[in-house]
Amino acid sequence: MFRSQGKTIGFVPTMGALHAGHLSLIQSSVKQNDISIVSIFVNKTQFNEVNDFENYPKPIEKDVEVLQKNKVDYLYIPEYEDIYPDNYQFRVVESHDSTFLCGKSRKGHFEGVLTVVMKLLHIIAPDKAYFGEKDYQQYRLIDKMCKAFFLDVDIVPCPTIREPDGLAMSSRNLLLSEKERIIAGQFPALLQSDQTPSEIAAKLEQLGFRIDYITDTDGRRFGAVYLGNVRLIDNVEL
Ligand code: PAF
Repeated sequence: MFRSQGKTIGFVPTMGALHAGHLSLIQSSVKQNDISIVSIFVNKTQFNEVNDFENYPKPIEKDVEVLQKNKVDYLYIPEYEDIYPDNYQFRVVESHDSTFLCGKSRKGHFEGVLTVVMKLLHIIAPDKAYFGEKDYQQYRLIDKMCKAFFLDVDIVPCPTIREPDGLAMSSRNLLLSEKERIIAGQFPALLQSDQTPSEIAAKLEQLGFRIDYITDTDGRRFGAVYLGNVRLIDNVEL
C-alpha cells in the first residue's frame, strides 16, 4: 500500500522488552524512511530451551509507550498461528554459517530465526530492515539469506549499544540478579582486552561465568557465556 504511494518503509523486527539497543534501530528507521513499522513477536521456534522461552520478559504495555514516544507508525503483534499456520512444517535451513558459534550450541536456533524473519519480511515488505550488530552472526545470516533468495530489501546493521560499564544492551540483562549484573560488566571488558581467547575464557571462568565460546574469526572476537541461567553474547571488531 505505502510502496504504491511512493513511500519508503523501514522495519524493525523485535521480540519486545525494548531497550536502548532497539531504540537506536527504531531511530535509524524513523530517520531514513517515510513509514516505520516495529513487530513484537517472541518467536518460540528460535528458543532451544522451553524455560528460556517461558522466562523471556514480555512488558508489552511499557513497550507500546516506548514506541508511541519514538514516533513509530505501526506495531505488528502477531500470534503464533498468524506466523505459523503450517505449525512450522516449512522452514528456512542454512547449511554452513549457522553451524558455528551460537548455531553449534543452540540447535535449531537459526532455523527459527531465519524462518520467522523470512515470513515477517514477506508480510511487511519493507524497503529497509534493521538489525543490531550485537547479534552479528544473526545479522550476517539474515543479510546472506535475503541475497540468496533475491529478496528486495536492504538489511541495515546498527552498532551495538552498551550500558555505562560496557555490557551490551539485551532484553536478557533484565533476568540477571543484582550481583550477576555487577559481574556481567567483566564480559565486554575482557572481550575487548588484548588477551587471547583462552586467557579470556580462563579469567571469565574464575569470575563465575560458564563459557560457551570465546573465538576470533573473520576479524572479530565473538563470545557467548552464561551467568547463572542467563546467556550473554557479544562481539567486537579486532
Ligand atoms: O534479534 C531478535 O530479537 C530476534 O532474533 C528477531 C530478529 C526479532 C527474530 O525473532
